[in-house]
Amino acid sequence: MSPPAIPLMRSTFFDETRTREALATFVRNAPRLSMGEQCAAFEKSFAAFQGRSHAILVNNGSAANIGLIQALLNLGRLRRGDRVGVSAVTWATNVMPLIQLGLQPVAIDCSVDHLNMTSSALYEHIGSIKALFITNALGLCGDIPAIAELCRTHDILLLEDNCESLGTRIGGTLLGNFGVASTFSFFVGHHLSTIEGGMICTDDPELAAMVTTVRAHGWDRNLPAKRQIALRKEHGIDEFHARYTFYDLAYNIRPTEITGFLGNTQLPLLDATIEKRERNFRRFREAMTTLPDRYHPLNCGHIERVSGFAMPLVARTANILRETMERFTREGVEIRPMIAGDITLHPFWKKYGLPEAVCPGARTIHECGMYAPNNPDLTDDEVSLICSLL
Ligand SMILES: Cc1ncc(COP(=O)(O)O)c(C=O)c1O
Repeated sequence: MSPPAIPLMRSTFFDETRTREALATFVRNAPRLSMGEQCAAFEKSFAAFQGRSHAILVNNGSAANIGLIQALLNLGRLRRGDRVGVSAVTWATNVMPLIQLGLQPVAIDCSVDHLNMTSSALYEHIGSIKALFITNALGLCGDIPAIAELCRTHDILLLEDNCESLGTRIGGTLLGNFGVASTFSFFVGHHLSTIEGGMICTDDPELAAMVTTVRAHGWDRNLPAKRQIALRKEHGIDEFHARYTFYDLAYNIRPTEITGFLGNTQLPLLDATIEKRERNFRRFREAMTTLPDRYHPLNCGHIERVSGFAMPLVARTANILRETMERFTREGVEIRPMIAGDITLHPFWKKYGLPEAVCPGARTIHECGMYAPNNPDLTDDEVSLICSLL
């Protein structure tokens, strides 16, 4: 089969040739390649970009999710058996860490107009969930300020899986800054690529320290000196044994210096690529708006800056979706399902005995949704072609 004329991604990086050359030079000359200065520098500049006090770099977005949940369990802010709300339209490794770590995911419906959860859907679950691990899907969101307010007033721990929405801004606030902590993915094709990579952001120093412990074996090696001293004193650990003393449940989800180097190279290019993708997305959305009988209009008027990596659509019927898919495929435009669609319809949901959930919005998105490419290498003509296929 020949490769699609318009693939989801054309390159691994922005400024591909120069980045690959710089990477080759870096690998040839770097004194070390395991986690070090490059990772620390990327964490610092990413925290500044995001406007958070702490950013902890890990080896992918899925690891960011499981690392964050493990850290909250270690701190006792979540307990085994707790019910945790998740967006019904999400990604597998948003939900799986909850199952793996003994929590109970509760699927909350998403609106067809926003492709995301809204406060009215959350409202029905108040009183029955301890935390909400919301997914900000496809650079979009529902009324997340209202969701955050509901969580605050009802003592629900709000966490954001922002792996698909780095850079989206609503009401002056970046997505990823509404909850206690948020996670990011730097996989190829996302907003910023380090090939594989992920980040956990928070303003909470205690949580940041626990995430740092969880990232590497449960030891204290990467903690600030003050915390190291306090921990060693509390447990009566001498300096020699401190090298290999393990304080809490953990993984090895460390990045390498290659991840850090690529992050440092790509971050300065991020705003320009977001702008380009947003322009493409707005053209696509406008084209869709002229066809309300065929596609659900996408409600994103409340979002100041949409930072996505796809052109999502929900057709009015499964037949219209099929016709649309055929046209895109015929013209060589790569298409994908709307991420995991309704997560409760996946085999793992049944296998692990999770309760069936009534999520009509997510079901429609599952049955009638798809997305087309919105990569920063798209030409204006290619965007016109994609719009003309609607
Ligand atoms: C919402 C969401 N969460 C988590 C992930 C996992 O990120 P990664 O592929 O870096 O493991 C993805 C991946 O695309 C995602 O879309």
